[in-house]
Amino acid sequence: MTSPDWQLVDGAALGDPAAALSPDERAAAAAFAADKRRHDWVLGRMAAKAAVRALLQREGRPAPPPADVVIEASPTGAPCVRPLDDGDPIVVSISHGHGLAAGWALRAGPRGGLPGIDLERIRPRKEGTLRFYLTPEERHGVLALPAGSDDQAGPRDDLAVRLWALKEAAFKALRPPRGMGLLDVRAAVDEVGGAQVSYAGRLLERAQALGARDVRARWTRQGDLCVAWVEVVGASAV
Ligand SMILES: CC(C)(COP(=O)(O)OP(=O)(O)OC[C@H]1O[C@@H](n2cnc3c(N)ncnc32)[C@H](O)[C@@H]1OP(=O)(O)O)[C@@H](O)C(=O)NCCC(=O)NCCS
Repeated sequence: MTSPDWQLVDGAALGDPAAALSPDERAAAAAFAADKRRHDWVLGRMAAKAAVRALLQREGRPAPPPADVVIEASPTGAPCVRPLDDGDPIVVSISHGHGLAAGWALRAGPRGGLPGIDLERIRPRKEGTLRFYLTPEERHGVLALPAGSDDQAGPRDDLAVRLWALKEAAFKALRPPRGMGLLDVRAAVDEVGGAQVSYAGRLLERAQALGARDVRARWTRQGDLCVAWVEVVGASAV
């Protein structure tokens, strides 16, 4: 599973990542108390570095070694790329879990946009959790589909997870401070990778403040893995 835009990293196929981390990143990794969190964080950094290097290669520029592509964290937890050149700022988005990580990098600003990416496993979703990320109208469409069983996802779960992944990706693209949520993302998907995403409420205000001109969204599925990616076109990072 791959895309010309974003990069997927499989932890099982990764060698020793230490050489790909900068000294600051190695120190940050060592500071995590929980092994799982450290593993996910490192995997996310690997995907982010791969995504930044892929962006530079798409631009026809030499990609620095992974350890020189340094991914820091903003106070809200959003990843930040330490500047590598004098071009428009490079912004990256990260998702990790299930032994995998996805990263996507774009040049931000009026000539580019902000990336958001999310990966999720398609698994049975309890009906009671839908209200945390789906509007009543979106829930209506999801609940009209056949449910799965306790251990087997059905069409209802499949749609719910696609919408969820799109909303997480759209949320991350705006890099919001705390206090904003997925219910201010509206999403609709087709069956072949197309999607429509828009913002409401405080996320809409944020998108407008960042200079958003358009929102482009796509998703893909391989087996029970779903990846969604959203570009907020024309927006700048703050
Ligand atoms: C922050 C959030 C988007 C992370 O998504 P997730 O699916 O839990 O986890 P993922 O692995 O996909 O993404 C984690 C990465 O998101 C990035 N991230 C964290 N906060 C971010 C923010 N404010 N903006 C952009 N990216 C952010 C980080 O890179 C993080 O990885 P890292 O800490 O290792 O660097 C999510 O927890 C969240 O807050 N969602 C919105 C809140 C909401 O409405 N929740 C409803 C209940 S489902």
